[in-house]
Amino acid sequence: MTTGQPAVKIAADALVEVRFTVNGSPVTVTVPTRMHLADALRNSLGLTGTHLGCEHGVCGMCTVLVDGDAARSCLILAVQAEGTEVVTVEGLGTPDEQHPLQRAFSHHHALQCGFCTPGFLLSSYDLLARGGVDPDTLPAELSGVLCRCTGYRGILAAVADVARAYPDGVPAPGNCTARTIVGRGGTGGGSVAGTGSSAPSPEIDAEAARVPEAIQRPTGTPTVTVAVARELSSPVQDVWAVLNDVERLARCLPGAVLTATLGADTYRGRVAVGLGPIRLAFDGLARVTVRDVADHRLELLARGADTGGNRTTAEIVLRADPIAAGGTRLHADARVFLSGRIAQFGRALAGDVSQRLFEQFAEAVDETARSGSTPPPTAGASPLAIGAGVARAAFRRRLATLRHAVRTRFRL
Ligand code: FES
Ligand code: FES
Repeated sequence: MTTGQPAVKIAADALVEVRFTVNGSPVTVTVPTRMHLADALRNSLGLTGTHLGCEHGVCGMCTVLVDGDAARSCLILAVQAEGTEVVTVEGLGTPDEQHPLQRAFSHHHALQCGFCTPGFLLSSYDLLARGGVDPDTLPAELSGVLCRCTGYRGILAAVADVARAYPDGVPAPGNCTARTIVGRGGTGGGSVAGTGSSAPSPEIDAEAARVPEAIQRPTGTPTVTVAVARELSSPVQDVWAVLNDVERLARCLPGAVLTATLGADTYRGRVAVGLGPIRLAFDGLARVTVRDVADHRLELLARGADTGGNRTTAEIVLRADPIAAGGTRLHADARVFLSGRIAQFGRALAGDVSQRLFEQFAEAVDETARSGSTPPPTAGASPLAIGAGVARAAFRRRLATLRHAVRTRFRL
């Protein structure tokens, strides 16, 4: 495609800032160049109404409107959305004021599990907005979206009803006004979220500059406790120099991005964590409560939440001890409190993830201490790597359990 613009070369693993409008709100996301629009909507903005089925352009479940036309968001790169106006199913109507299509789907029981429904709603909208729908050709017109469970009669009846009611074109999406994007769970904070963003937009600057309420020290039994140590080759004063510099420290934590320094040793940031196919992005605050220079010990309180209702609070202690041969033993102790869906992963899984994160963190601290440089912002939490490590650990545990059961059963 010739655009008349000079060609720009961008590394495949680079992060790119993309600005566009979603459901009437201007947003900025910082995403890997290869991320498709559906992932940017879901993971960066918390708009999980856009569903992914095949991710190959076949099932139509990921359909959104781009500049008024239906488009498969799994086939569009997020960077291609620059400057466009995107409407997702969240923009079609509200629970109190549903779009006529939503009301008709409800009336005709045109859904069962509902997975295909966002794609059907936006494809139907695209069709009806043009007016003059022929009932005979409706099945063919909507054949680009697949439903696995409810059958198509209710869907076709619903769309035909709306077509009859609005022969000159269906009403525009009713929930597209400039406002903060609120993703699933309605907790907000995802207005300008992005994986690995290092350059906050003016909107997030304003949010980041807001003075936070104090972070409460958690009480009760933590969901998971972490107590890990690792030997590093760097001398203790170099390691402490990294620990004592929160900006460099944050860069060493996989998937973490510092978005604002709020004063009183309090920081706002974002952490992306991947558990196999599940990706979670937490926005939150961290406050340094102890900087013990003599003991090379840093204590922090952190809390975060994502747009899906997951919450975490943590007390973290990092300590660097000198060891023989000029190296350092880096200790990390944490009491982590989880609530929401993430808590259902269980202690074992959360422990494995914490272990993997700490291993990657320790490697980055060692490298940063050795080189004396500031690591570049990360592009995410390496979800597959963590997922694979976790899966291996879970498999090993399962195998050990089975071996034990077999030995006990047969008295081997
Ligand atoms: S997920 Fe996009 S077409 Fe199937
Ligand atoms: S209602 Fe389940 S896939 Fe369509």
